[in-house]
Amino acid sequence: MLTVFDHPLIKHKLTIMRDKDTSTKDFRDNLDEIGSLMVYEMTRDLPLTDVEIETPMTKMTGSKLAKDVVVVPILRAGLGMTTGILNLIPTAKVAHIGLFRDEETLEPHVYFEKYPKNMPEAVTIVVDPMLATGGSAVAAIDMVKKQGAKNIKLVCLVGAMEGVKNVEEHHPDVDIYLAALDDHLNENGYIVPGLGDAGDRIFGTK
Ligand code: PRP
Ligand code: URA
Repeated sequence: MLTVFDHPLIKHKLTIMRDKDTSTKDFRDNLDEIGSLMVYEMTRDLPLTDVEIETPMTKMTGSKLAKDVVVVPILRAGLGMTTGILNLIPTAKVAHIGLFRDEETLEPHVYFEKYPKNMPEAVTIVVDPMLATGGSAVAAIDMVKKQGAKNIKLVCLVGAMEGVKNVEEHHPDVDIYLAALDDHLNENGYIVPGLGDAGDRIFGTK
């Protein structure tokens, strides 16, 4: 299922990020903040379990998260949303998947992977600001499934329909969350209007 968030704060912050004159610092800060806002919305269906506690007044039955959460940033750009997500789910474990997209073929290449042990039982949130052809997201989801992940969500900032269709075709069980669904990909596989190269804008490498 595809969800495109319609929250005014997300739209406001994303517009700042799209602006080519926005500084590296402001780009990073806004991405962090949008990461928190998006994860707040997309975790509404997390299962809860009862927990018996005692307030200063009396005993009561409260709630706690029933499942662990694993956040999986796709390096590099996924790192830019991870702090914002961890601010809201501080108990989450973090897996890392290093992927870069070949500039000619647009095929993803894996250069790093590291996972916590609890992936089969956890809710897994794969994170990458850009969903262009979807090749990177499909490869990352393949990789977390090999680790036993079953309950998987993909959160991206800006997506193109090509990428959404690619993920839906290969992984129909994965829910996709976007802040915006943009118009098209250009001949170099960049999202238009998009925001440019997310990794370069987060880390100031161009
Ligand atoms: C970007 C982006 C995604 C990928 C999206 O990463 O962060 O991972 O491209 O494109 P796709 O949907 O066509 O696969 P990039 O390969 O530029 O690496 P970086 O994050 O290290 O800059
Ligand atoms: N990767 C990016 O960083 N930006 C795009 O528009 C497409 C892929």
